[in-house]
Amino acid sequence: MDKERMDGRVIVITGGSSGMGAAMAKDFSKRGAKIAVYDLNKEKGQQIVDEIKAKGNIAEFFKVDVTNKQAIEDATNQVEIQLGPLTNWVNSAGISRMVPFLDCSEELWNLTLNVNLKATFLCCQVAISHMLNNGKGEIVNMCSLSGKKPSSWQTIYCASKFGVLGLTQSIAKEFADKNIRLNCICPGIVHTEMWDKLKYEYAKKRNLDPEEVLPYFEKQIPMHRLVDLQDVINAAVFLLTDNSSYLTGQSINLVGGEWMD
Ligand SMILES: NC(=O)c1ccc[n+]([C@@H]2O[C@H](COP(=O)([O-])OP(=O)(O)OC[C@H]3O[C@@H](n4cnc5c(N)ncnc54)[C@H](O)[C@@H]3O)[C@@H](O)[C@H]2O)c1
Repeated sequence: MDKERMDGRVIVITGGSSGMGAAMAKDFSKRGAKIAVYDLNKEKGQQIVDEIKAKGNIAEFFKVDVTNKQAIEDATNQVEIQLGPLTNWVNSAGISRMVPFLDCSEELWNLTLNVNLKATFLCCQVAISHMLNNGKGEIVNMCSLSGKKPSSWQTIYCASKFGVLGLTQSIAKEFADKNIRLNCICPGIVHTEMWDKLKYEYAKKRNLDPEEVLPYFEKQIPMHRLVDLQDVINAAVFLLTDNSSYLTGQSINLVGGEWMD
């Protein structure tokens, strides 16, 4: 049997309307998984789901604000009714801004910590309560190189992603003997909608033209390329399937050699 198939799996992907979440939703559905996309952006999420259905595969969109526990619980109960018992969850919803530390507002702190860290906590709680009933489960939390490596102008984002790592490791320990595994993916720069916006902020930080920002990073990275969506998909498939059955509380650095810890 192909060990990278995902037949019979029911996978929630938060942030599945865009970027890495959308790429994973499309890929996993081709491997036989049924996908539930949770996102605030209904229009883009519905487009992804329609694309998946047009290929004869199964997916549903749920408009969920992942900072709201009741909304996560309601959607997940619906997922189990419509798609079957939950087997996997990917927390990919996230936001990022680059702002000098002294200009960071309390509002930006609250928003970033809520979406990147609190929502991961809430989603893991809901996911695990279902997975315990189902006897097994695997969760992937999208962390970041910024979950390990500090960056000026990204203080709040780094704080949230360092938190995601500690959260994931601690939950992984608690449920290691319950057949529930949690791991992180820590990518460097992936050219998604997130960087379409961030490149303007980074350009200010380095006094570059926005169009020079991504080529500038490519030069700095030892492999001289950014992360491909396929790199993220490959790591996620590995972590969500039995290929990684002895891994929990770990993090895969997708950084082209930039960081080795
Ligand atoms: N792009 C990168 O370079 C990069 C690198 C490392 C880590 N990451 C992390 O990977 C994850 C995915 O990043 P991406 O580049 O695909 O981002 P993206 O901006 O393309 O997509 C993020 C999605 O999250 C959704 N979202 C935001 N707030 C939400 C909320 N409250 N409830 C529900 N959905 C919400 C957005 O609507 C969007 O569809 C994020 O956690 C990000 O921090 C990104």
